Formats: sequence, structure tokens, C-alpha cells
Amino acid sequence: MNRILNSGDDGYEFQVLSNPEFLAEGTAISDLEIPDRVLIGGNLETEKGRKAIETLADVYRNWVPEEKILLTNVWSAELSKLTANAFLAQRISSINSISALCEKTDADVGEVARAIGLDSRIGARFLNASVGFGGSCFKKDILNLVYLCKYYGLEEVADYWYQVVKMNDFQTRRFVTNAIHTMFNTVASKRIALFGFAFKANTGDTRESPAIYVTRMLLEERAEVVITDPKAIANAKQDLEGQDVSYEMDPYKAAENCHAIFVLTEWDQFKNLDYERIYTKMAKPAFIFDGRNILDREKLSEIGFQVYNIGKPPIINLS
Ligand SMILES: NC(=O)c1ccc[n+]([C@@H]2O[C@H](COP(=O)([O-])OP(=O)(O)OC[C@H]3O[C@@H](n4cnc5c(N)ncnc54)[C@H](O)[C@@H]3O)[C@@H](O)[C@H]2O)c1
Repeated sequence: MNRILNSGDDGYEFQVLSNPEFLAEGTAISDLEIPDRVLIGGNLETEKGRKAIETLADVYRNWVPEEKILLTNVWSAELSKLTANAFLAQRISSINSISALCEKTDADVGEVARAIGLDSRIGARFLNASVGFGGSCFKKDILNLVYLCKYYGLEEVADYWYQVVKMNDFQTRRFVTNAIHTMFNTVASKRIALFGFAFKANTGDTRESPAIYVTRMLLEERAEVVITDPKAIANAKQDLEGQDVSYEMDPYKAAENCHAIFVLTEWDQFKNLDYERIYTKMAKPAFIFDGRNILDREKLSEIGFQVYNIGKPPIINLS
């Protein structure tokens, strides 16, 4: 890029800077106002390079404390961005891998996450087991990292990071296959309500949402899928264009006559629904597969639901 920009003979000189952004959807403004750090990569070895870096750093110095502004070379800045997202995604895949083991044993992944999170070296954040991570960044950035490793002949390093994506796919598939197995090995012609389609709460964004893969798997098994989401229905319709799926803004209506509810996005709205009312209108036995571990499982069980979580022993109702 630098070479291309500076190849002209019109007297202009360019400096290329790398200034990766770390804004997450839903918190973008506060991430910008109070960033954990600002990264500016450029050519630190030349005076013009340093001047360009300082010019951009001065913009940030208007509101960001000096110690949070990191000046690096271009490669460090670019790789730091990819590595930050790879580490975050790796945490999710790590706890998700343990959730699979919890389900085979008598452990509860919430208790394990809490116990390890209290170790200050590990920290408590980003340890919620779930149906899988999504969003436009994690998978793309890991695949970018994998590509770079392969390009430089680092096959083992590439494989190591690729495993984070594979574990995520495994987790989503595992969630659906377990649910099908639980529902007496078939979901054909059974109505299933997906509570949530966005890749995370408080956004309508569905890019790389695990809900897309869950829906496709259920359709392959000939289930009747109805999707409810406070913000993501328009995007879901695009993602699933041409597929035989129905959409319902009202979760109560979505759940009517369903055999199962799959909770796929951690919307607050889903925590506060009247599940007694939902239960009475569902086919029995009524299953809930909580792919985000957000619902009050004891209460659901008291109502009569068969309750399945990620990484926890199920609460099976025999009455
Ligand atoms: N979204 C963008 O447009 C964008 C642009 C540039 C950079 N980024 C970077 O990419 C990163 C990801 O951003 P994002 O918008 O995808 O959102 P995010 O980091 O909030 O969510 C990414 C994924 O992590 C999961 N997740 C969130 N909190 C979790 C927890 N506590 N435990 C387990 N899983 C959790 C979410 O469900 C989601 O699938 C950001 O940190 C940012 O640095 C994002």
C-alpha cells in the first residue's frame, strides 16, 4: 500500500497508519468515549512516519489518557486487532468445550465458570457458555489469522486457531443434535419456536448468528420453524430467503402449539415472559432448550417444562 501510494511523481508523500477499532455493537459509543486502549501503528523509524503517528494520536489525546494510546509498528497494530478477537472467541470456545464435558458428567458449567473466573489471572468476563458465538468479526478475524499463519508456513499455529472456529461449529451442531435426540429422535412435522435470531442481544444483526445454522439443521430434519425476535426478523427473512419458515413478533403466538422452544439470543424480554401462559398453549411434553442459560430453570420445571440447558444437568419432569 505504501509503495503504491508513493509511486507517483507529483511530489505528494503518503504515510500509511493502522488504527484498528475495538467497538462492539450495542456499546460502540461508550467504547469510543472510554476505550480500553487506542492502537496506532505506523513507521516509527522515520521522522515523517512518527509525525503522521503523532498527528493522529493528538486527535485521540483530546479525550483519551496518554497511557491508553499505544504507538506501534503497522504489523503489531494489525495483528493486535486479530489477536484480541481471537483470544475473546477462544475464551467462548474454551468454556463451550467444557460445557460439553459438564453435560456428560454431573458438573454445572455456570459453577465452573464462576470458580475459574474468580482467579484474577483468568478473570470473569466472556465466560458464558452458549449455543455459539456469532457476529461479523470473530470468525472473520480468526480466519484472517489462520490465513496469515498458513502464508508464513506456520501450519501448527494455523491449526491451533482454526480449532476455535471448529469448536464453535461443534457447539451449535451439538445443541441441535442433543435437542433432536431428546425429542425422541425426530422433529419432523414438530413446530419449534426459536426465541431470538440476532447473534447477541440488543441488536438486529444476524451475521454469523448461530440461529442461522440451527434453523438450517431443523429444516433438514423437516421441523416447522417459527422465529421470534424483537429486532432481527427483517434480517432473518433475508438470511433464510426461500426457506419454509414463519415469523412472529409476539413470542406468545410463536410458542403456540410448539413442541419446543429454543432460546438462541439472550434478550431480556425472554426472561420476563409468562411461561405458565406459554406452557398451557404448547404441545406436551413441552421442551425448552435454553441455548443461553438465561431462564429460571427451576421455575420452568415447576410449571411442567422439560428443561435443557447448555452445560447443566437437565431437569426432566416425569409428572
Ligand atoms: N461489530 C463490529 O462492527 C466491529 C467492528 C470492528 C471491531 N469489532 C471488534 O470485534 C469484537 C466483537 O464485537 P461484536 O460486535 O461482534 O460483539 P461482542 O464482542 O459483544 O460479541 C461477540 C460474540 O461474543 C458473545 N459474547 C458476548 N459476551 C459474552 C460473554 N460474556 N460470554 C460469552 N460470550 C459472549 C456474543 O454472544 C457474540 O456471539 C469487539 O470486541 C470489537 O473489538 C467489532
